[in-house]
Amino acid sequence: MVDSAMDRIERHVASLPRQPMHATAGGKKLARALREPMPERGRPFERLLRLLIGRVIPASLNTASPGYLAYIPGGGLLHSAVADLIADATNRYVGVFIAAPGLAQIEENVVQWFCAMLGLPASAGGLLTTGGSLANLTAVVTARRERLPPDFLRGTIYTSEEVHHSVQKAALIAGFPPERVRALPTDDRFRLVPEAVAHAVSADRAAGLAPFLIVASAGTTATGAIDPLEALADLAAREGLWLHVDAAYGGFFALTERGKAAMRGIERADSVTLDPHKTLFLPYGTGCVLARDREALRRAHSVEASYLPPMQTEEGLVDFCELGPELSRDARGLRVWLPLKMHGAGVFRAALDEKLDLARWAADALRRIDGIDVVAEPELSVLAFRARCEGMSAEDADAYNRRLCAKVNEKQRVLLTGAVVKGRFLVRMAIVSFRTHADRMAMAVEDVATSLAELGRP
Ligand SMILES: Cc1ncc(COP(=O)(O)O)c(C=O)c1O
Repeated sequence: MVDSAMDRIERHVASLPRQPMHATAGGKKLARALREPMPERGRPFERLLRLLIGRVIPASLNTASPGYLAYIPGGGLLHSAVADLIADATNRYVGVFIAAPGLAQIEENVVQWFCAMLGLPASAGGLLTTGGSLANLTAVVTARRERLPPDFLRGTIYTSEEVHHSVQKAALIAGFPPERVRALPTDDRFRLVPEAVAHAVSADRAAGLAPFLIVASAGTTATGAIDPLEALADLAAREGLWLHVDAAYGGFFALTERGKAAMRGIERADSVTLDPHKTLFLPYGTGCVLARDREALRRAHSVEASYLPPMQTEEGLVDFCELGPELSRDARGLRVWLPLKMHGAGVFRAALDEKLDLARWAADALRRIDGIDVVAEPELSVLAFRARCEGMSAEDADAYNRRLCAKVNEKQRVLLTGAVVKGRFLVRMAIVSFRTHADRMAMAVEDVATSLAELGRP
């Protein structure tokens, strides 16, 4: 099975750059055709493989393509697929330390590498999650537990209107009604304004509410904005608030000098979300939450049970079930550990530096296209732009820019998505894939210029 799957996977991966960027037309029909009751009798593997690789997988967005610049791209390093195969086939248990001490330690190593990368203190720790959303949830629950009484409904959360919606979702799941989340307007670079947070905190205190958490972004999804982390850390310290930094997109740029400088202050966070399936180029399904005091995670999540083995008390030995919501979980440390061990951090640093260069190059090249304005310069590797629509109503200008985005995507060489920021539709490029290089970025810029010409200047 592995050999024949590998044969098809190899061909699939080799043809990725030539595959269309999106092939979801007819997707509903396909989905309906796949509906079936639980089969009573088996089918040969080869037939099922043909179905998957031949029909099901191609009918999708080509998220693994070098041209995928949409949303925040995921990675898909094959090393992690091999690590998953080993982890799943051997099926060891990493929920509790004593069941697989070596595998638990491998995940703990990865977590500690990430803590060191961000400059967190020796008290820090965390765990790998399935993604950034679960990491944000774990952090919000931990902050709630650390900073609020059991009757916590007066608790209020401060963040920017540009924060990823998983933070609002985390607040909701953690029991806070939407009106307890202050999504504050941003400055002209789409960043949270510390003075606005301070103002909202004192107004809420005066109204009898209980401010407890600031969520800053280290790279917003729409424009890549990095909130002023130092000033927010000062404010959080002054006001006794928990500071969580959602660095799901930006975090791994801390491996680079430029990224580290851009995210200065992240080392003062109480907790951080990272997403190895974004900027560490891994396949979907790997997030990470870190806390400056690992014991805070334990206090928020640890529950005893007589049927479990004793938990570790010695320094550095971790039972992951005590730090987050999951008990049984895959040995997901392996999929991070294997590529880092095989290549070393230097290879990742170089790849991330390349993305920073590509984004800067793309912003300059877009600016040179007559009629294009770069609205959000790349702080890291996300940028946003817009066709200049002089004399048009805001609605017509947005409609034009949506058509521009669709026209670029019609060419099937890159896939772009947009976002509405401060009431305006912006077209974005998110350069995150390890497969994206200068040649594809040149196509992206060329397709914007050609599409603009084809649509006719607004
Ligand atoms: C800034 C940011 N935070 C959080 C998330 C949520 O992460 P995930 O999709 O891994 O749950 C995303 C996803 O794109 C994101 O861009």
